[in-house]
Amino acid sequence: MTDRIPLLIDTDPGVDDALALLMAFNDPRHELVGLTIAAGNVGLKHTVANALKLCEVAGVDVPVFAGADAPLLHPSPDAGYVHGQDGFGDVGYEAAKRKVEAEHAALAIIRLSHEHAGKLLLVALGPLTNVALALKLDPTLPQRIARLVVMGGAVTCQGNITPAAEFNIYFDPEAAHIVFEAFEHLDLADWEAVVAHGLLHDRVVGWFKTDSARGQFYERISEKTRMWSIDRRGDHWHAADALAMAFALEPEGALDVQSRPVSIELDGTHSRGATVVDWRRQEGKPDKAAILMKYDQQRFENLIQAALSASPA
Ligand code: BDR
Ligand code: CA
Repeated sequence: MTDRIPLLIDTDPGVDDALALLMAFNDPRHELVGLTIAAGNVGLKHTVANALKLCEVAGVDVPVFAGADAPLLHPSPDAGYVHGQDGFGDVGYEAAKRKVEAEHAALAIIRLSHEHAGKLLLVALGPLTNVALALKLDPTLPQRIARLVVMGGAVTCQGNITPAAEFNIYFDPEAAHIVFEAFEHLDLADWEAVVAHGLLHDRVVGWFKTDSARGQFYERISEKTRMWSIDRRGDHWHAADALAMAFALEPEGALDVQSRPVSIELDGTHSRGATVVDWRRQEGKPDKAAILMKYDQQRFENLIQAALSASPA
């Protein structure tokens, strides 16, 4: 028996996903029970291979389940120009020896929700396609999830992939709509919170001075996206999924959380994929999203630094 909180991560690795996973690998209070993988940052073939490789490098034995290879309805461009065409900075790493599980990610989410009913922490770091598929197969899923944390959205519609929308939601808005409607409550770390919690590039480079295989691998795979970020966004790097993971693993580090109704825009010439927050509660809908506004920056950075310098147990 363990009193650790069972943790299931749905992800599309992705350089910032990898940092979030390293944080989860290093957390003593949670027991990682699976990684379910979607297409998003890059195609499914790469996101699965990246998840397997990161587990191998980190010496972590956790099952990896492949899921959706495309959004539910409409094709969407990936983010290979940010993360590298393979999602891990195109460093040419040797493929992992470990293999993906046979079970589909959506089925694994349902099964694990039964095995850890009432206790499971589900953290979604990519497009919500796998979680939406699981909900379509089993609409009772939310009853068994203790807490859902989503990285996604732009809560005043200052997006990163379009002027109004954030990448994870924009990639598969129909899936996001299904998830946001089905769960009575979810915790949201959106892109605007990420911008408010930037990491100074100089400090990040300092964290790579470590003997840890995890930190050294991460330095390699993140270099391309860090250079891209310096060109585009200046002194601060924005590791979106890492902030969501900090909120998931150590929610007591949240200094300001605002609960509001949130809807996903599915149409709109300029606004498809926007997360429309009813800040003034004009529609009388329930406050279902707990929106992270401020997290303890020092605590966030400590979690990252510890993850990068950790070694296998
Ligand atoms: C989100 O989009 C992806 O590119 C990142 O991995 C993160 O999950 C940020 O908008
Ligand atoms: Ca991601």
